[in-house]
Amino acid sequence: MNDKPFYVTTPIYYVNDKPHIGHAYTTVLADVLARIHRLFGRPTYFLTGTDEHGQKVQEAAARLGVTPQQHADATVVRFQEAWQKLEITNDDFIRTTQERHKAIVQEMLQDLFDRGEIYRAEYDGWYCVGDERFFTEKDLADGKCPVCGREVQRVREANYFFRMSKYQDWLVDYIQTHPEFIQPDFRRNETLGFLRKPLQDLCISRPKSRLSWGIELPFDRDYVTYVWFDALVNYVSAIGYRRDDARFAKWWPAVHLIGKDILTTHSVYWPCMLKAAGVEMPRTIFAHGWWLSGTAKMSKSLGNVVNPMDMMERYGVEPFRYFLLAEMVMGQDAAFTEDVFVRRYNADLANDLGNCLSRVASMVGKYCAGRLPAPEPGAFGPGAPAAELLARATAAAAALRDSADRYDLSSGIAQVMDAVRAINRFLEARQPWTQAKAADPAPLGTTLYAAADALRVCSGLLMPLMPQKMTALRIALGMDPAAAAAVDPEGLFAPARLAPGAQVTPPGALFPRIEPPKPAEEPKPAAAPAPAKPAAKAKPAAPAEPLPEGIISYDDFAKVHLRTAKIMTAEPIDGAVKLLKLGVWMGTERRQIVAGIALHYKPADLIGKTVVVVENLAPVKLRGVESQGMLLAASRGETLRLVTIDGDLSSGAVVK
Ligand code: MSP
Repeated sequence: MNDKPFYVTTPIYYVNDKPHIGHAYTTVLADVLARIHRLFGRPTYFLTGTDEHGQKVQEAAARLGVTPQQHADATVVRFQEAWQKLEITNDDFIRTTQERHKAIVQEMLQDLFDRGEIYRAEYDGWYCVGDERFFTEKDLADGKCPVCGREVQRVREANYFFRMSKYQDWLVDYIQTHPEFIQPDFRRNETLGFLRKPLQDLCISRPKSRLSWGIELPFDRDYVTYVWFDALVNYVSAIGYRRDDARFAKWWPAVHLIGKDILTTHSVYWPCMLKAAGVEMPRTIFAHGWWLSGTAKMSKSLGNVVNPMDMMERYGVEPFRYFLLAEMVMGQDAAFTEDVFVRRYNADLANDLGNCLSRVASMVGKYCAGRLPAPEPGAFGPGAPAAELLARATAAAAALRDSADRYDLSSGIAQVMDAVRAINRFLEARQPWTQAKAADPAPLGTTLYAAADALRVCSGLLMPLMPQKMTALRIALGMDPAAAAAVDPEGLFAPARLAPGAQVTPPGALFPRIEPPKPAEEPKPAAAPAPAKPAAKAKPAAPAEPLPEGIISYDDFAKVHLRTAKIMTAEPIDGAVKLLKLGVWMGTERRQIVAGIALHYKPADLIGKTVVVVENLAPVKLRGVESQGMLLAASRGETLRLVTIDGDLSSGAVVK
């Protein structure tokens, strides 16, 4: 992680929307990234806000008989309240109706107009009221809006245009020579694909006769600005562009987090606008995927929104924040169901993390009168088991920090959770309940101290996701409240920072187990093969004749359960040059798989790949490490390649 200032933005949300999971996801994502960067000491600035001009706000206000400004003032509160509840630590909240923003938009427009970057021309084309966009005849899809499918209106009027077309070649070159600019890779390719067609000049005005709720063009009072030309400018108007050069230079260029549906406006319009204005390009435009309900995008217009307020109230704000980031691989779509939520909550938070704390705290209570025992001298020396446990936790610190830089938080989080599971395994292996019966109390001291200390590191790493819960956990470990809440970044890379003798207090249930909702919405994992007779109708009939040698029946084939799985972690196994230990996410559970692919893949290159796993293979131990399944791979001679999935598909999908 570098220590250059980190400036992160979310899209500014349409003010008349109700906050929904799409808004909540980007905002929590930005918050967690900002908190991780702050945690590791990087100067960080985090901006969010609302997009308040345009047709929809004007119409909604008219229906309610209030002014658009009154309507915006009344509705913006929903976002501000939602972000407060979700523990969002934005440094600023910009509204496009604020003077500080409007003045900058007007200055930019005037400047571009004066320099001939904006010109006036007669326009004849098709207009979609819903999207507030113009289309040419050939853009239309069956005579309708190509974006939303609604009716379009024929419009003939004078308008102002931004000379975007002249930046096409420059933009293609910039994107090609700056791989970090548009991410993930496939979104960069999508933008380059869009730029294969000739880029049109952009109509940036709307006559007031049609739309009055916008920022007036400074050079023609009969027009207001196109809403995107207004909205995108928020990213610079909020940090002192044209007002405070030092402040602007400190934070710019930004990392823009956006949803994939607003890629073109951010990766084409915005760079051209900045280029024309002589401003440096954003550092990165990262487009994330959608939360889906089944196969449909969850959004207000579809009426299938999981309201973050409901989810927060039902399961708690912080588990919700954890879920959003642990579940979605950044850039890809993910399914949201209550069932998936509850499974992950129970597995990661109630079982692995919550149990780990309550075991440590209750054993310190029972065997050490509630005082954290001291480790043996040399307990953290090279090769000692406690040292290895701590090395695991501190490696997770580096992994989380790197995952923030690589925009791959779910894999960083998975490594932290692996480190938590390692603490549980350490306890099982060392059996403190047996050690407590021995005459020498020293080994017990090492076991409980090391477990608590590793938990100190892991909880510090999970702080950006669950600040209050992790503070409570750390206080339970005997840390003083100030140190518990303000994580010392150095301590994340060093063992033995807890004070022996500190009072350890069993916490209340930090993550009480949730009863799973009744029927599972997801396909059931590892269902036993159906008994032959009733199911026989639906399947090809079992052949009466004995099968030729080497040929198997459908029933035989159906015994093998194959599923997609995402590789979350990958690491070498000591002393086994060909093997890698993989942590894979199967959609509803995590598995550990040992695969003989170390000579063909580097661990880092595997993370994030969606592979095919034989799910119902009996577990085996390879070099002492349990393998709970097998990956499919193709090989010929020296070459081996994993079977992967072509395109977006969530983990746990049945392969057949
Ligand atoms: N006002 C514009 C952005 C202007 S930025 C200069 C806008 N606003 S919005 O309120 O519609 O923002 C929606 C954001 O939420 C988009 O980034 C969109 O991708 C995201 N999501 C909406 N539904 C979503 C899901 N179901 N899942 C994830 N995010 C999705 O666009």
